[in-house]
Amino acid sequence: MRRNKKELPITIISHRGASGHRPEHTLASYELGARHGGDFIEMDLVATRDGRLICRHEQEIGHTTDVADRPEFADRRTTRTIDGREAEGFFAQDFTLAEIKTLRAVERLRDVRAENTAMDGVYEVPTLEEVIGLALSLTKELGRPIGIYPETKHPAYHASQGLELEPLLIAALRGAGLTGDEPKVPVFLQSFEAESLRKLAGTGLRLVYLMGAGEPWRPYTTPEGLAEVATFAHAIGPDKNLVVPVTGDGELDEPTPLVADAHEAGLLVHPYTFRSENRFLPESLRSPGDPSDYGGFAAEYEAFFEVGVDGVFTDFSRHAFLAREHFLLGDQG
Ligand code: G3P
Ligand code: CA
Repeated sequence: MRRNKKELPITIISHRGASGHRPEHTLASYELGARHGGDFIEMDLVATRDGRLICRHEQEIGHTTDVADRPEFADRRTTRTIDGREAEGFFAQDFTLAEIKTLRAVERLRDVRAENTAMDGVYEVPTLEEVIGLALSLTKELGRPIGIYPETKHPAYHASQGLELEPLLIAALRGAGLTGDEPKVPVFLQSFEAESLRKLAGTGLRLVYLMGAGEPWRPYTTPEGLAEVATFAHAIGPDKNLVVPVTGDGELDEPTPLVADAHEAGLLVHPYTFRSENRFLPESLRSPGDPSDYGGFAAEYEAFFEVGVDGVFTDFSRHAFLAREHFLLGDQG
């Protein structure tokens, strides 16, 4: 199925903010993502010891904050097994929010995004409430809706630690007037765990089932599986490779039927994650130069827009915005 270019919209989801340009999951990153044309601010949520939701990609905060350089927290270093994966470091659940607020964010991808390391130590770790406040104020200032797109991270693990994420998320959304049919700004709620989405059904908000490229999600990629997903979600957020795979030669392959099948089941499709640097692009789209140089990202967006995806998670909202402009308007000149 090819997209009719007049069919709008293609939603741009600023993945961890404008994380190509700022350390991920900081208010500065989120704000820039919106100013670069993003429609939604995407954030991953984990819980602190005192039950507050903060924005980090995983519970381990040693790779995205300066916690390892803080002698006062040296005794918090530990090893935890989360969903079968052992990790050593510093975990959000061992810190109060007040302690987290003394930390500062650092760039995760230090070799590829060396420019961002200049902003190490500048920004705080934001709370969910702060991001909601930012989305509301940007909506007012920019004159267009800036939505939020929170993800519950490892929700079953959190629950096993007495830190159930969903009631905390629902309370924050309710408190801000972001539930029901007409939230103050658009909202999608996402998770890799179906059970978490089921717990969020009462919000009345649109729910997105994230699908990895691995075995656990394979049954959900069939028409029957997608029909089942449609009983608890409004959209899927598949790994890009489930939509347009990459051949062994590093070329974009023929699209799979996933988008057409998902649409048939009544589901929107928002694949993740688009990144402009050579390091992350299929070999055939790379430019000569360093892994950190930009490659032919426009061709990648184009391929996915052609297939009819309804949105994209991107570290570079500006690039997605320009690619969308070109795709929708480019042949009118
Ligand atoms: O939420 C979409 C995408 O971010 C899922 O993968 O691991 O980057 O959170 P991850
Ligand atoms: Ca995410």
